[in-house]
Amino acid sequence: MSATGDEERNFWEQRAGAWERQAERIDRFSDTYGVPAMDALGLIGGERVLDIGCGPGTTAVALARRVGPSGEVLALDISDAMASAARRRVEDAALTNVGVVVHDLADGAAGEGFDAAYSRFGVMFFVDPVTSFANVLASMKPGGRFSCSVWAPLEENPWMFVPTMAAVGILGADLTLPAPGEPGPFSLSDPGHVRSVLAGAGFEAVEVQPVAGHFSLDRDRGAEQVPVLLELGPLGPAYAAADEELQAQARGAVLDAIEPYRGSDGWRIPGAAFVVTGDRPGTG
Ligand SMILES: C[S@@+](CC[C@H](N)C(=O)[O-])C[C@H]1O[C@@H](n2cnc3c(N)ncnc32)[C@H](O)[C@@H]1O
Repeated sequence: MSATGDEERNFWEQRAGAWERQAERIDRFSDTYGVPAMDALGLIGGERVLDIGCGPGTTAVALARRVGPSGEVLALDISDAMASAARRRVEDAALTNVGVVVHDLADGAAGEGFDAAYSRFGVMFFVDPVTSFANVLASMKPGGRFSCSVWAPLEENPWMFVPTMAAVGILGADLTLPAPGEPGPFSLSDPGHVRSVLAGAGFEAVEVQPVAGHFSLDRDRGAEQVPVLLELGPLGPAYAAADEELQAQARGAVLDAIEPYRGSDGWRIPGAAFVVTGDRPGTG
């Protein structure tokens, strides 16, 4: 694995605990984007499907329910800790048709003959996108279907940048945004770029559809739900390492910053993503 791949893995190792603890809340805001991407695959019972960058495993469980007991899911993640969290999730769901492996698609295919491949917000972190997508393609059978969700540009995602910018100074975190083309949440936020990366990897019939959503905080529990906005993103480790006083200051600053998004039912902070689909050429 390259030095950059190591950095990417370490980044996610540090966040796996928070992602596992907050899995339900993550689903609550990710489903808006992740469910249409899963629907686009048109999965049927008995199919074999890959879950790329599976994180704490909730999407692997959802995919397994779609393909039924005669189908199979292989969930993969670059991070050991995320894969362990996904194994716990799969065990809790009492599923026997889901495998979980630690694998970076930059290093090779994840098997062969899969009917479909899916990712909810995992593929933007590929260090070598064309090679990694080519290895997704090689893992699928001819005619296999691919679908994923990826974030739209930063400025269309205030749920991410407003809390981060409000707390970064208080937490004294080093916030370096990835340069264009580097892995990060917005690396595939330009539809033209996504199309050219997927075409370069060998996909055909590539489609990019915008999906709008929001991150919500409950009217009566907003203050206690604010930490998730800090824990999951770039400030996660700095927030975890801060003492209680600094954490409280950071939460206060976030609450102030998101006040414009507060309505009678609670907070609704806009987010935007794309559902990207494509096929492996040929017939299965
Ligand atoms: C934003 S999280 C999404 C997790 C999960 N799909 C979800 O929606 O809950 C991105 C995930 O991609 C994984 N990841 C990053 N780079 C990867 C790579 N090259 N190969 C596989 N997984 C990767 C991270 O470890 C992390 O679990």
